[in-house]
Amino acid sequence: MKILIVGAGGREHTIAWKLLKNDKIKKIYIAPGNAGSEMLENAENVTLENDINAYVRFAKENEIDLTFVGSEELLVKGIVDEFKKNRLKIFGPNKKAAILEGSKAYSKNFMKKYGIKTAIYEIFNKAENAIKFLKEYKEFPVVIKASGLAAGKGVIIAQNLKEAVKAVEDIMVNDKFGEAGSQVVIEEFLNGVEASILSFTDSKVIVPLLSAKDHKKIGENETGLNTGGMGVISPNPYVTNTVFNEFKENIMEPTLKGIQAEGMDFEGVIFFGIMITEKGVYLLEYNMRLGDPETQAVLPLLENDLLELIESSFDKKLSEVNVRWKELHSCCVVGVAEGYPENYKKGDIITGLDNFDENNNELLFIAGAKYENNQFLTNGGRVLNTVGIGTTPNEAREKAYNLLNKINFNGKYFRKDIGEIK
Ligand code: AMP
Ligand code: GLY
Repeated sequence: MKILIVGAGGREHTIAWKLLKNDKIKKIYIAPGNAGSEMLENAENVTLENDINAYVRFAKENEIDLTFVGSEELLVKGIVDEFKKNRLKIFGPNKKAAILEGSKAYSKNFMKKYGIKTAIYEIFNKAENAIKFLKEYKEFPVVIKASGLAAGKGVIIAQNLKEAVKAVEDIMVNDKFGEAGSQVVIEEFLNGVEASILSFTDSKVIVPLLSAKDHKKIGENETGLNTGGMGVISPNPYVTNTVFNEFKENIMEPTLKGIQAEGMDFEGVIFFGIMITEKGVYLLEYNMRLGDPETQAVLPLLENDLLELIESSFDKKLSEVNVRWKELHSCCVVGVAEGYPENYKKGDIITGLDNFDENNNELLFIAGAKYENNQFLTNGGRVLNTVGIGTTPNEAREKAYNLLNKINFNGKYFRKDIGEIK
């Protein structure tokens, strides 16, 4: 069997690593991939134009049996529909379902329509109306969101009226996020702890994966700028049985009803970003793909074969799979280039990458690094992920940090408090 994975991050390296545990899979192409393919037997990077037709052509010419898309842009643009039109197998949401991530205005209305617990909100198409609404708003902070895709940067938590008005102007007048800001969602601020619950669906059932806790800010204690994610632990200690049951009842089950009622019918991933508050569990957003770096922490704990889950989804038999988890904890720490998430340098030599032992529950997933002239070189902001697996959260943390400490590159930075529960 031959598989194509589309993407360049640590998430895609992890998906390839997990899939290759199945010896039915003879070859994985990753487009464009990263230096991670150098660590995997039977994986190869391919350079393709970032265009749906180019992926379709490659899949046809190379007789690809299954395509898995890592990130959201191509899903929202309809890569799944195009593959299916060409009778190519692809795991992911069609355009009609991907809009749950592609438009926050659409997804909030979907949540309301299907009684899914979420923050109270209003949608605006014109800056002046949004500002008029804000002038009468009493309870700051308030949350302002560009509706479209903004690479995780389109959410602003405004502490007062002045900041809120500036956010609306930046998004709607100054077009800070381009087209993504033609609509804004203004919503109630929720105070609580976040959790990521990834899941697989065949549109008949939703099968949640183990919970995870992302660490989004660049600085320790959640300070400084937002990033793509600086580290993850799994399971998330705040997702107790009570929280999970509330999530299932008030979020997951009504989401499935909505997907069915809207005729979205697809096989793929739903990633629920939830907020656990004193008033209960709320849905912040849907992502229609696996999380990065959540995937790096969650997939290593999955006992099942990943291909089995995907194939059962295509057969609409996901409900028959007994999903099993290792009774262990994982911790993923992200090593980033100095300056990230703002400007950073590329091309620094990375050393110490062969210092890990999978049998000792240490894993290494490459993100922004390339392999050139027999050297590993930094090639992005989030350079690599080290993952530790342990019988306790602390053992997992120690393994992840020990491994990251053995790896070096100029300006290496990482948060020291991933998984620290205060
Ligand atoms: P989203 O893309 O909607 O998940 O928002 C990105 C981040 O903004 C979330 O992970 C939260 O940290 C924060 N956020 C979003 N909505 C809210 C809200 N209603 N209250 C508090 N924080 C929020
Ligand atoms: N780690 C958050 C995301 O993948 O969107």
